[in-house]
Amino acid sequence: MRPSRRALIAAAPALALAACGHRDVAQPLPPARPLKATARFPVGTSLMTGELQEPQFVGLVRSNFSQITPEWEMKMERILGADGSLHFEAADQIAGFCRDNGLRLHGTTLVWYSQDPPAFEALKDNRAAFEAKLREYIGAVMGRYKGLARGWDVVNEAVAENGDGYRGGVWAAGLGDDYARLAFEMAREADPGAVLFLNDYNLEQMPAKLNSFQRLAERLLKAGAPLTGLGTQSHLDISLAKGEAGVAIKALARFGLPIHVSELDISTVGGDFSLGGDASRLEAQARIAGEIAEAFAVLPAHQRYAFTVWGVRDKDSWLRGGKSGHPDDQPLLFDDDGRPKPALSAIEAAFARAK
Ligand code: G3I
Repeated sequence: MRPSRRALIAAAPALALAACGHRDVAQPLPPARPLKATARFPVGTSLMTGELQEPQFVGLVRSNFSQITPEWEMKMERILGADGSLHFEAADQIAGFCRDNGLRLHGTTLVWYSQDPPAFEALKDNRAAFEAKLREYIGAVMGRYKGLARGWDVVNEAVAENGDGYRGGVWAAGLGDDYARLAFEMAREADPGAVLFLNDYNLEQMPAKLNSFQRLAERLLKAGAPLTGLGTQSHLDISLAKGEAGVAIKALARFGLPIHVSELDISTVGGDFSLGGDASRLEAQARIAGEIAEAFAVLPAHQRYAFTVWGVRDKDSWLRGGKSGHPDDQPLLFDDDGRPKPALSAIEAAFARAK
């Protein structure tokens, strides 16, 4: 019989304590304090303009987070029209929310293999025109949020899905394999003060992908690209083995660059938890959340760029929507009713332990 939601929430602190490896759960954790009050570094979430109309959502963001990543409205798909025109109304709304609430902004993303807008498709056989258009786009977008955006995902998901090689979509077609270095140089010209990230996913789960990501970072740095930050998206799930959650952070730390846990969510579907049901799924999620939070929190201060979750409440998650979405997935730190979950307590406990 599934435990009631009320029973689960009541058990949350104890579950979190158990999930942090403290088996003596006699004294449950105190209710989690707002995350940003405990962290010695920015704690972020993604959002989109529609969510800014919801008072509960806005309240949770204001209480817990200090940085915002627009989930999609600062990407080319929303800004760049088919005719090459630029549309900033949604992005400006999010930027305004950040300014009004003293929130740092992180921009995602400038060059992404999975977005090949018609305005660039049309130029891919004319390198000079393609390069000029990309320089103009990056200059316009980054220039608009200069001083508010602390950093940008300049190149997103450049490593092949299986980790064997690289992908560049229309960007490689238009600029050749050197597209990533050029994008970083254009970004540096556009905002000399921004932290410029290479960002990717499955770096915890796939050693081959983590290796290729590091080789690309090394190649870019060797070529003189102004790569100044490394992002691990950290889209995880509860089947992740003990000790795996911090693998990417520990590997990337050697570069000495700021690290961004940029899109954390921990899917609770899948895996063999049929025995324990919801409680064991949420305990597994809290264990993993505590592990990655610990790995990030113990980094040297100059390498703790931000710890960002990809949404606020479970129902806000991309994992609930679309064809591959799962209506029962509980991937985030607050439940559908905006109540904190064991994973939030586990993260808060890890942040509190950090120096
Ligand atoms: O809100 C509009 C709606 O009004 C319209 O009717 C509908 C159909 O056009 O589109 C809706 O916007 C969609 C938006 O999500 C909100 O649901 C966009 O089309 C859709 O492209 C957008 O998807 C985003 C996706 O990136 C592509 O930008 C997801 O929200 C976002 O979670 C996802 O985030 C990515 C990261 O950028 C990179 N890492 C993986 C991560 C998850 O896929």
